Amino acid sequence: MAHNGNIPAGALQGERALITGASSGIGAEFARQFADLGCSLVLTARRKDRLDALAGELRDKAGIDVDIAAMDLSKPDAAAVLKSTLDEAGIDVDIIVNNAGFGLQEDFIERDWADWEGVIDLDIKAFTHITHVFARDMIARNKKGRILQIGSIFSFGGVPSYAVYSAAKSYVLSFSEALADELAPHGITVTTLAPGVTQTEFFDTASDGKVSEAGRRIMQMPAEVVADGIKAMMAGRPLVVSGWINRAMIFSRRLRSRQSAVHALGQASRS
Ligand SMILES: NC(=O)c1ccc[n+]([C@@H]2O[C@H](COP(=O)([O-])OP(=O)(O)OC[C@H]3O[C@@H](n4cnc5c(N)ncnc54)[C@H](OP(=O)(O)O)[C@@H]3O)[C@@H](O)[C@H]2O)c1
Repeated sequence: MAHNGNIPAGALQGERALITGASSGIGAEFARQFADLGCSLVLTARRKDRLDALAGELRDKAGIDVDIAAMDLSKPDAAAVLKSTLDEAGIDVDIIVNNAGFGLQEDFIERDWADWEGVIDLDIKAFTHITHVFARDMIARNKKGRILQIGSIFSFGGVPSYAVYSAAKSYVLSFSEALADELAPHGITVTTLAPGVTQTEFFDTASDGKVSEAGRRIMQMPAEVVADGIKAMMAGRPLVVSGWINRAMIFSRRLRSRQSAVHALGQASRS
């Protein structure tokens, strides 16, 4: 169920959002909550059957336009292919939700390079390329725009057993903070949403479905996380951490030495 009750219904009528990673979890919930606000959608991910089902549901329920582009965003030039596919169909987007991403939980030396390269290809390379292609397009069309980047509570420092993923999410935050400043004069806002542990398919890929004891205790539902992201995006805020426990955890990192915070997070993630 959506929790964006204090944003007026129809607040995004006349706008169109591109949501990457919309076939499950946080991305699918973004699609539902944007639809509730009257926003037309372009949904992308690899699993076309899931995108088709969600598009059908939202067209029926909200009466909005929903287009889908099923593709593997980690392929080289996927962002450019996505953009030219939308251009050929005459589809412009006003909002980008850069959500597709995955992590793998394992010590760095235990996995082959190809596995880590896959994380970097999607979470850093495709993420950055999509931002570049669509931000340039917004400026070329002289349009105001909103960019919502999905970071993580792991954006605030390294996490042992998630070394590559936490570094990728730190990149998301660092890049997006700088970009928010660069794009402000163009009327484009850049917001980073940092979710904590959220009940999605993330852990099926990351850790064969295993969630740490600490993670289970603080797990959020996608509806709450997404509502926080949309509110912050609408307000043009550069950063929102979803959930007071997550905000407290990030604050408490500052109270200990950097490396001891890193060590403690690694222990909590492995428990
Ligand atoms: N769940 C958490 O605890 C948590 C916490 C902090 C941040 N996040 C972030 O939230 C975002 C969404 O994750 P989630 O939790 O909703 O996990 P999820 O349920 O696994 O969703 C991930 C989405 O990314 C898509 N995706 C994965 N690889 C792709 C590829 N190569 N090309 C195109 N799309 C791809 C997946 O679709 P297909 O498989 O159909 O391609 C799916 O729609 C990610 O950036 C994640 O890092 C999650």
